[in-house]
Amino acid sequence: VMTKKRNEQGHLMIGNIDAVRLAEQYQTPMFAYDVGMIRQKARAFKNAFAQTGIDHQVAYASKAFSCIAMVQLAHEEGLSLDVVSGGELYTAIQAGFPMENVHFNGNNKSRQEIREALQAGIGCFVVDNFHELALLEAECNNLQTQTSIILRITPGIEGTTHSYISTGGEDSKFGFDLFTGQAEAAVVQSLSVSSIRLQGLHFHIGSQLFETSVLTEAIATLYRHIEHWRASHGFIPEVINAGGGFGISYTKHDEPLEPKTFVEAIVHSIREESDRYHLPLPEVWVEPGRSIVGEAGTTLYTLGSQKEIEHVRHYVSVDGGMTDNIRPALYGARYEAELANRVKKQEEKAYAIAGKACESGDMLMYDLPLPMVESGDLLAVFSTGAYGYAMASNYNRLPRPSVVFIENDAHQLVVERESYADLVRNDRFLGKKIK
Ligand code: LLP
Repeated sequence: VMTKKRNEQGHLMIGNIDAVRLAEQYQTPMFAYDVGMIRQKARAFKNAFAQTGIDHQVAYASKAFSCIAMVQLAHEEGLSLDVVSGGELYTAIQAGFPMENVHFNGNNKSRQEIREALQAGIGCFVVDNFHELALLEAECNNLQTQTSIILRITPGIEGTTHSYISTGGEDSKFGFDLFTGQAEAAVVQSLSVSSIRLQGLHFHIGSQLFETSVLTEAIATLYRHIEHWRASHGFIPEVINAGGGFGISYTKHDEPLEPKTFVEAIVHSIREESDRYHLPLPEVWVEPGRSIVGEAGTTLYTLGSQKEIEHVRHYVSVDGGMTDNIRPALYGARYEAELANRVKKQEEKAYAIAGKACESGDMLMYDLPLPMVESGDLLAVFSTGAYGYAMASNYNRLPRPSVVFIENDAHQLVVERESYADLVRNDRFLGKKIK
């Protein structure tokens, strides 16, 4: 986590904009994204690939944060797009994103979602299981169309990360297992369907990774099977998709690798394995989500009530919490935060930052050092750009916050705060109104 920029008044700056002004204009809680930082991350991946000289696609995993403006931004930066639902696909369509650069992931795509994607002319399905393969064949027949796929392979390798976001191990709900022969059966079946073009293979080990070894290990494991599938079935992958999961910095204890380090390790390993088995070099795809948007996002909250339990804890509550950031409650995730409206002048003490939802577990942090706080102070929580807004809920009927994009001296609302009317929009009266 870099040192944060402050202006002469001691206010936190996001891009070139005073966070206090943002909070005044857009109200809190709000998400503020530094667009320059998103562009920088996207370019870091693109440039790293360009330097290797390999054909590639960098698909932004829109599950990390999807809205029309974000999809537009991904397109501006030359990224492809990974979607995992009809809703993310719809967002991409509304944004005008070129469908041939969209990939559809997910372990339970519905028939309806598959049809929508085919009708939209999606570039590629990342097929997860046999049920999907059958649905896809049926829908291709119905629509008299063809499609490209890659198969999601589960290599049986665990990423060292939280178990909820580790996906590549042997006991995983995702993908075709290598070690049970499922993957080979999927290759054979895919090759036999004339409306389906099997382009290649996909794996995703897990999220928030801090090492390249699990990726290169997965590549080596995969290639041992590819060698066999070429000999037995004549299958040669044109694409290897190494997934996403590149770790970012939430606190000063995190030491993330550069995108370049991941890209170089992946490309190097795929080159080496292709050479080893005399296979043509495939295109290499990756699907970063968190590492594109995570560090670029800051949440601004206003502090409200306090409760001090002497010698135990000093609680101070924010005007959001688990409804806009479930990660501390769900994964025990840690964050860093500072007051945005003033610099510390006094000695600091540890505060427990509570959310406003009716739930004891709705805590953002347990020991955040801050100068003596007052209600009305503005709290900035950093690195909330991924899986914050995306996982937001209306628990307690709290409206979802606004999202603002900041670039240099300009700021722009990209997602409006939900209104109370939005909250009851889909509700229907039970018989007649009460009055
Ligand atoms: N590709 C696949 C197949 C995935 O399953 C994921 C994430 C990604 C790419 C993108 O991973 P990223 O680069 O964003 O780490 N809600 C959790 C994260 C869930 C990740 C699910 N899959 C969190 O807040 O940590």
